[in-house]
Amino acid sequence: GRVAVVMGGNSAEREVSLDSGRNVLDALKARGIDAHAIDGIPALLDALRAGHFARVFNILHGGGGENGQLQGALDALGVPYTGSGILGSALSLDKIRAKQVWLTRGLPTPRFEPLPRGGDVHAVVKRLGLPVIVKPAWEGSSVGITRVFEEADLDAAVELAARYPGDLMVEQLIEGDELTVSILGDRVLPSIRIVPKGAYYDYHAKYVAEDTQYICPGLDDAEAEAELRALARTAFDALACGGWGRVDVMRDRQGRNWLLEVNTAPGMTAHSLVPKAAATVGIPFDELCQRILETSFD
Ligand code: DAL
Ligand code: MG
Repeated sequence: GRVAVVMGGNSAEREVSLDSGRNVLDALKARGIDAHAIDGIPALLDALRAGHFARVFNILHGGGGENGQLQGALDALGVPYTGSGILGSALSLDKIRAKQVWLTRGLPTPRFEPLPRGGDVHAVVKRLGLPVIVKPAWEGSSVGITRVFEEADLDAAVELAARYPGDLMVEQLIEGDELTVSILGDRVLPSIRIVPKGAYYDYHAKYVAEDTQYICPGLDDAEAEAELRALARTAFDALACGGWGRVDVMRDRQGRNWLLEVNTAPGMTAHSLVPKAAATVGIPFDELCQRILETSFD
């Protein structure tokens, strides 16, 4: 039947999602699939109630598309969709709850504290020590985050994060390599090590810069690479995720891995990471999109 590719929406990652969505749409069409673009959840629900679509490829980033809201509505309507269900989506979009689940399972994630709005960030940093990273707990693509090395910069960091919905968090900054591991159904794809030209892999390095370097597989040592992939699978499963996704990890200078977050509808832009990992194992972009769609058939 017809496939709705839902993209855009109203989160801070709207533009990234439109970019991802157009790529997915073109790829599915190139594979002969009757796919159509839909912008946002309300338009999707109208179209589904009118009987226009049999299946949904969800490429909304952040907000209701990645936090369980869309997943709950589609479950209620009995429409199959790509990616994690309600629980996996909700846990993964909230970085605080994701980390709390990992900690109860003994999985490594940087020390952190939730920061209630109006809470005393200086007291938190006395406990965690500098440097830290201040984040809105519900955003993606590095939106609203600041790395803080000096106490004097803390208040501005909190002010920025507080512009976004949801809780705030302060996390110990791990210095080292940024790695990511893509999950495609039963497969864990090779990791990617990200080497930004500037100091950090921020929004600009993610979507604009052409000089960010991507190394895949991310680790030269086969045993370390296997360990990293196994950790990513365990972290993904611990959050009740399914279908496909991407697990972001920091590797410190001692070679220890620290889980940062799971993305349940990861970017599919020309700069994005899941497509790069798939290409490394011989899965071109069009086929990747079809395989992701097929994970919705279970
Ligand atoms: N949140 C962005 C889209 C990503 O993880 O790729
Ligand atoms: Mg994210």
